[in-house]
Amino acid sequence: GVTSSQPYEEFLQCLEFHDSNITSIVYTRANSSFSSLLESSIRNPRFDTSATPKPLLIFTPRQISHIQSAIRCSRAHRIQIRVRSGGHDYEGLSYSTISPSLTFLVLDLRNLRAIQVDVPSKTAWAQAGATLGELYYAIAAESRTLAFPAGMWPTVGLGGHISGGGYGSLLRKHGIAADNVVDAQVVDVEGRILDRASMGEDLFWAIRGGGGNTFGIVVAWKLSLVSVPPTVTLFTVSRTAQHKGIELFHRWQHVVDKLPDDLIVMASLSRDNGTILASFDSLFLGKTDALLPLLEQRFPELGVSRSDCIEMSWIQSILYSADFPINGSLEVLRNRTTGSAKFKGKSDYVKEPIPISGFEGIWEKLKEVGVQTGGLILASYGGKMSEIPESSIPFPHRAGNIYQVEEVAFWVEDGVEAADGYLNWLRGLYEYMTPYVSKNPREAYANYRDLDIGRSWGSSYYKNNFDRLVRVKTAVDPANFFRNEQSIPPLSSWR
Ligand code: FDA
Repeated sequence: GVTSSQPYEEFLQCLEFHDSNITSIVYTRANSSFSSLLESSIRNPRFDTSATPKPLLIFTPRQISHIQSAIRCSRAHRIQIRVRSGGHDYEGLSYSTISPSLTFLVLDLRNLRAIQVDVPSKTAWAQAGATLGELYYAIAAESRTLAFPAGMWPTVGLGGHISGGGYGSLLRKHGIAADNVVDAQVVDVEGRILDRASMGEDLFWAIRGGGGNTFGIVVAWKLSLVSVPPTVTLFTVSRTAQHKGIELFHRWQHVVDKLPDDLIVMASLSRDNGTILASFDSLFLGKTDALLPLLEQRFPELGVSRSDCIEMSWIQSILYSADFPINGSLEVLRNRTTGSAKFKGKSDYVKEPIPISGFEGIWEKLKEVGVQTGGLILASYGGKMSEIPESSIPFPHRAGNIYQVEEVAFWVEDGVEAADGYLNWLRGLYEYMTPYVSKNPREAYANYRDLDIGRSWGSSYYKNNFDRLVRVKTAVDPANFFRNEQSIPPLSSWR
């Protein structure tokens, strides 16, 4: 319509004024590729309906000067920018908004995904538009004994993931992704290209976990890689019987955060088309021969036998977690297309073991009609996570946490009514968890963005680090140009 083409025309003239070739990377709604480009990294089809607010245009920069022009012209024409790397935002805020009248553009970093691995210094520069799969692929091409401690899903983007923390099965040994960033390249609201030295330690602190779309546009991260042994061991143990499953969960809580940091045992309690399943998934940085006696000593109840254990390389463990054949080609890690289940996730932190009766109630919740797939995914903490001070980076969930919980529901049906059914079920589960999880604040993981949290999201995600984040934001972007529904506000707008 007339109202939406006007800011676009002016924006485009502004861009052309700065770089006459730039319009080839701008996609308007009239462009035949607009929808497919928008949808290509919408990872939650809940935010891909006719009712979902859409950007005015999508901008796919190929070089930093394009980002600088986009910022300059967006500011001049009062168009909000939503930057998208992998598009996994739990509330779709990298490509949409909850405000139907907002004029915004999507700055999609898909073309900025170069990765350079330097084996001697055990570092890598990775552009923010790269995915975790592309990063792991690039590392594996150079070395099978180097890794990076980030998430387990290959299509997740480095831009959003590291901006919000980023954990995976190496967290007990090496902390989270944001703990392992040593430098970064950022374009700020003035269009300046900054690195660690020129941005200063306050801004460098803030971008490592303080949330995306807030302090500037991260173009690249310099990552500190970690060493892993040539052979690691994995096992998955599942139980369907209610009493056995609940007993194991209960016991698991007393063991997992105190295990040696070479071993992580994740757990999940889920319902999948009617069957309720208690599962325990493990990564051990060593061989079966060393793992079995350790389990026998620390967690014999789990009943892991030699035949449950599979030895492989670390990169194969990534294939395994993503359900790819472990002896297949690593090329699958570079595939950017994924499945299309709708979902909602919420998060919690557990500091005291949940009693047996608590797990019985969760098991009952999972039996409730209407839930296709859903449940709890539990990531054990301790180890390195307890050694890193809460204020080291903005991500504050450290010592004192036994494990992190993700409450999640997946569904395939279309429509608001179906979605409301699942959302209500999930909110009921979250409500049920209240007495068993962290309080004052009820902590939550920033990368599992949850708009239900309401006004207290700042302390839930960042605890006491929130005030410093506000100070940094006030210093670097006082007019709040980079923003979304849950970005750190500058002081003036918070009052
Ligand atoms: P997306 O592009 O949607 O960005 C997320 C946020 O960061 C948005 O606010 C966006 O504007 C901003 N942003 C993106 N790029 C930016 C940039 N270059 N500069 C500044 N801001 C930027 N988490 C985890 O810790 N471990 C895990 O194993 C997984 N696994 C997982 C699987 C699946 C299927 C999903 C959907 C999500 C996860 N996550 C996860 C959560 C994930 O870490 C979280 O959604 C990240 O923010 C996703 O980053 P993307 O770049 O993909 O998202």
